[in-house]
Amino acid sequence: NLDTRVDSVLKLMTLDEKIGQLNQYNGFWEITGPTPKDGQAAKKYADLKNGLVGSMLNVKGVKDVRALQKIAVEETRLGIPLIFGFDVIHGYKTISPIPLAEAASWDMAEIKKSAAVAAEEAASVGLNWTFAPMVDIARDARWGRVMEGAGEDPFLGSQIAVARVTGFQGDDLTKRNTILACAKHFAGYAFAESGRDYNTVDVGESTLQNIIFPPFKAALDAGVRTFMNSFNELNGVPATGNKYLQRTILKGDWKFDGFIVSDWGSINEMIAHGHAKDSKQAAEIAINAGSDMDMESSAYVEHLATLVKEGKVKEALIDDAARRILKVKFELGLFDNPYLYCDENYEKETVGKPAFHEAVLDMAKKSIVLLKNEKELLPLKKSGQKIVLIGALANDKTSPLGSWRIGADDNTAVSLLEGMKKYTGNALTYVKGADVAVGRTEFVWETKINMTDKSGFAEAIAAAKNADVVVLSLGEHGLQSGEGRSRTDLGLPGVQQELLEEVYKVNPNVVLVLNNGRPLAIPWADAHVPAIVEGWQLGTESGNAIAQVLYGDYNPSGKLPMTFPRNVGQLPLYYNYKSTGRPMMNEPESVFWSHYQDEKNTPLYPFGYGLSYTKFDYSNLELNQSSFSNDGKIEVSVTLKNSGKYAGKEVVQLYIHDIFASITRPVKELKGFEMVELQPNESKKVTFVIDKKTIEFYTANSKWEAEAGDFKVFVGGSSAKTLEADFQYQKN
Ligand code: IFM
Repeated sequence: NLDTRVDSVLKLMTLDEKIGQLNQYNGFWEITGPTPKDGQAAKKYADLKNGLVGSMLNVKGVKDVRALQKIAVEETRLGIPLIFGFDVIHGYKTISPIPLAEAASWDMAEIKKSAAVAAEEAASVGLNWTFAPMVDIARDARWGRVMEGAGEDPFLGSQIAVARVTGFQGDDLTKRNTILACAKHFAGYAFAESGRDYNTVDVGESTLQNIIFPPFKAALDAGVRTFMNSFNELNGVPATGNKYLQRTILKGDWKFDGFIVSDWGSINEMIAHGHAKDSKQAAEIAINAGSDMDMESSAYVEHLATLVKEGKVKEALIDDAARRILKVKFELGLFDNPYLYCDENYEKETVGKPAFHEAVLDMAKKSIVLLKNEKELLPLKKSGQKIVLIGALANDKTSPLGSWRIGADDNTAVSLLEGMKKYTGNALTYVKGADVAVGRTEFVWETKINMTDKSGFAEAIAAAKNADVVVLSLGEHGLQSGEGRSRTDLGLPGVQQELLEEVYKVNPNVVLVLNNGRPLAIPWADAHVPAIVEGWQLGTESGNAIAQVLYGDYNPSGKLPMTFPRNVGQLPLYYNYKSTGRPMMNEPESVFWSHYQDEKNTPLYPFGYGLSYTKFDYSNLELNQSSFSNDGKIEVSVTLKNSGKYAGKEVVQLYIHDIFASITRPVKELKGFEMVELQPNESKKVTFVIDKKTIEFYTANSKWEAEAGDFKVFVGGSSAKTLEADFQYQKN
């Protein structure tokens, strides 16, 4: 069995070799170029030859992977193979929508398929480990990395975590089309104060257990074999050195037996946090806290041996970490065939194959959310309509790839202009209007967003005057969200808002196509523009997907996985908030309610919201009984009717409210959803089951359990628009 095999290797290893397994380096140097002679690269190269490296990241392509694997296998004393990690976040080269967009599909089979496609393509270039999925629940759209997660809800987030983990890892890690997944960032990263990346996180146990942990636990239950800790501190202790998170929760309560990797340099960052005095102490804290692999701090390889000799770190902890890493290497089949992922012919046949393009196109269509459609402006007519397309993003083949797509080349996405031309040919007039961004590379520290040049306005306005319909493609460039890209203003960057208003003045028949990696605050657009399509950053096939929706070949069915605010000052804003002792009423008689003087409490677009070209009616909410106890259950049913003129899909959502409890409960919590497809005039009865599991939460007794009491159940097409009924749960 595996454990015996792992032990048999471990027995042969020196302390230094065991520590080497805990060391992960970035492949900075030109791998198949001349042997590095000095600096960091030379040191890393020497460590590799001496068996002091367990994993590499950011090495891609069979040629490079093979070259390094050969050193590990043929030139080190024990020949232990390396694992190759990479941020395959939403595709490797054939890019899927950003994860937040995929979450808007609420389509678990499709999300799983998207991860499987990413895994197959990534594995073909020699990779066997992705640093995904990011399962951080995020409530603050100022944080740039909301693009990388599944949004604000722990229930939806957990289902998506499962879909993505099982998509990446498949049913057998030794197959060459599967890769290891990594649930990150454990934990609390998205709760950075004021939405500023890497900022302090201070949250209580109830939020941790009830909101932040569930998707991690779901990923674990789905078999995820690695976790990544996090840059942030949590309640005063950096996650990387946090024993409670890693030893008590993850390896203790949850019995996780895979391994935990640090985030990039996060062991040494504990010095800047003010938690360790130097790299040596940081290494001591991190290993004692349960962080198994050191990504790019060199703290373990530099200091752990000394720390063991000084008695500050028990060798048993090093053994445990090394054992975990070796076990995963066995699970990947690397000890049997270290070159499993290294086949140039397979790489050539696989990267970018047509089936991948079909899959990411499907995923992209399903991710689009129709936010508004008055006067039936959409779908556009395929002929007889004079359409003008305006906006720099419409002609951009890089932006739709979004952030975190480092395996893909710039300019490889289908632009909206190209997608629409497939319908109109050259009859489509295109005008840029205004620039959105400069500095468009993944790792420049800032992408300039305050573009001020309005010289293109006149041409855009003139073209708009002559059109039947104006399609305005506005929003954020793909690199204006992502890591290190927090914002304090969630409006349309630069002069785009002005462009929108100027164009609208001369032609109000505007279809606004948004491209963005986070919820935006667009109250003016919502109040004026008749049609708004949320087109996120949809990946390689973006332009084709949006065009198919605009021209009605695909009826949108996406629902928002994250609340859109009216105003950035409302943040953090999320549907599953707590009531407070002074909940805001519709018409308060005094000021002493939980509210703002200058803005509503409600969002612009709520969680779960999204329209269709057809119309769905909900009726007959029925409970087969109004109470249940112990192992009993209630069946909740509703009738959904397609009363519009198109076939369409609707995500029917079930929420509950636990009215009083030992720990106050949110006003609404998603507990179920089902995607239903109906022809015009067709109806369907949809049934959900409520049982003890549905109402369980982490209570004041510090455990997951159901408390007796009164509840409400809501069913509808968004978190805001629902039918409701009451029920009780009793304990015998
Ligand atoms: O996987 C990422 C992580 O999410 C942020 N820091 C760098 C890691 C590796 O690239």
